[in-house]
Amino acid sequence: MIKVQDIVYVIYRAPDLDKMANFLVDFGMYPVTRDENRMFMRGAGTYPYIHVTEKGEPGFVAVGMLAGSADELEEAARLPGSSAIEDIDAPGGGKRVRLKGPDGYRIDLVHGIAPVEKIDIRKPLAINFGWEKNRLFELQRPANESAKIVRLGHCVLKFSDGDAARKWLQDTLGMLVTDRLHVPDDPKVTLGSFMRCDRGDKPADHHTIFALHAPGDINVHHVSFEVQDPDAVQIGHYWLHGKGWKQEWGVGRHLLGSQVFDYWRSPWGHIFEHYADGDLLNASVKPGDYPATQENLAQWGPELSPRFFESVVV
Ligand SMILES: [Fe+2]
Repeated sequence: MIKVQDIVYVIYRAPDLDKMANFLVDFGMYPVTRDENRMFMRGAGTYPYIHVTEKGEPGFVAVGMLAGSADELEEAARLPGSSAIEDIDAPGGGKRVRLKGPDGYRIDLVHGIAPVEKIDIRKPLAINFGWEKNRLFELQRPANESAKIVRLGHCVLKFSDGDAARKWLQDTLGMLVTDRLHVPDDPKVTLGSFMRCDRGDKPADHHTIFALHAPGDINVHHVSFEVQDPDAVQIGHYWLHGKGWKQEWGVGRHLLGSQVFDYWRSPWGHIFEHYADGDLLNASVKPGDYPATQENLAQWGPELSPRFFESVVV
């Protein structure tokens, strides 16, 4: 059975690679390589790239998920609508199968991408808490710089049938439901499901894919990138603000997943999130079920922005 273990990359299309590069660098990614038609960006972690831009009409192309083993690619290639096992023509090589997900989403199952050395970034800050002092005789001086992206954390996709999408992610990718959100006055109607990777006893992010029920509006909602600590979220916020990019919602702390978050719009109106300090769970945790209220979206932070659920705002 396929059990995806991580999210590796997202692929978007944009008509102007220079403009996209400016945004992604201000957002905290590192350029890897590019030609006229494709541009690769990485984080400070060990994947050779986490974001790919293909030149073309603005849009979402695909998400890449890490297979649990090479054998899983064989299994994936037999699924209806799948590609054969292909060589990945990108830094680090490896193999992939392009799966046809619900609503036609392209989900790449990948294996064998060669890792790269980490990039040395500011260490997480040692914090002097009220009752517990972790930094003695040293000054706190984080640089005023872009947030430094460590890794891709999750993506949120809108589906025509949120329950069917949840079932597909469980049955086809072996993912687990962490928390379900339902319509506040009708618990039977699903608004979305936070899905995590089944890593057995090992910790996994609270969610790696969130399947949002949004009939008539099939699109990516956002992609989210982890930074080293909550200060980086806030420093990155002012950095992006200073560069004139458009903010969507934040800084706040989510309830489900607990991340300190900040959402921004790319030049083509897609949402990119910074986060830090998310929850990690193993496979034994039973699913939660919550009404989709503002309190369940954020524990603290500004009022939910009015256009937060719009996929594209330019
Ligand atoms: Fe998110």
